[in-house]
Amino acid sequence: MATNLERTIAFVKTTLANAEGGHDWHHINRVWKTAKTIAESEGDVNHLVIDYACLLHDIADSKFHNGDESIGPKVAFEHMSQLAISTKDIEHVIDIIKHMSFKGGKRVSPIDTIEFQIVQDADRLDAIGAIGIARAFNYGGHKMFALYDPEIQPDLNMTAEQYKASSAPTINHFYEKLLLLKDRMNTSTAKSMAEQRHRFMETYLDQFYAEWEGKK
Ligand code: ADP
Ligand code: NI
Repeated sequence: MATNLERTIAFVKTTLANAEGGHDWHHINRVWKTAKTIAESEGDVNHLVIDYACLLHDIADSKFHNGDESIGPKVAFEHMSQLAISTKDIEHVIDIIKHMSFKGGKRVSPIDTIEFQIVQDADRLDAIGAIGIARAFNYGGHKMFALYDPEIQPDLNMTAEQYKASSAPTINHFYEKLLLLKDRMNTSTAKSMAEQRHRFMETYLDQFYAEWEGKK
């Protein structure tokens, strides 16, 4: 008999089988591994809640479901209800999933448990650094965005709707989101991991502009 975790891994792999490269099983698995790394320095935490929140956090991303933000939590709830997990833990996991996304600058976070903080940090860390760069260009390619256009300036004042509908060049996304994430980490472990990944993106952008001008 497969364990609850094994069943959940299989469910996530199947559900995300055709997902865009930045939102596939490997994203989920990286977030899970990173959350475990962060959790090691955060003392007493509910590992079960962290495991399921990582595994199910992108099970039905609203970006790929016509903006419907209720599908993900619903699918996660239905899956967990089939497993022997306490109602309290299921509710905590669903609460985390509901509150995880970064919505174009607005912080909607009335939930403040350590488990939420860790999973959100792990997901945000996967959006920056070398992996973050790869994911951004993969997402931009998937959406047919330009790599860069010096004529189109980043927009730091978008509403959530404008942010979702944006088809700006992928380089703009660095200024509109990726370079802002380092200051939004919750835990000290994630903060120091984010510093390194942030510096790497800055170095990357310097090189990008130099190459763009044929200077390096
Ligand atoms: P997650 O689903 O992991 O919470 P998001 O859904 O916000 O994260 O974004 C998934 C990935 O796609 C991230 O790496 C993010 O940087 C990238 N991405 C999202 N929007 C854009 C965009 N407009 N341009 C380029 N990359 C984007
Ligand atoms: Ni994610």
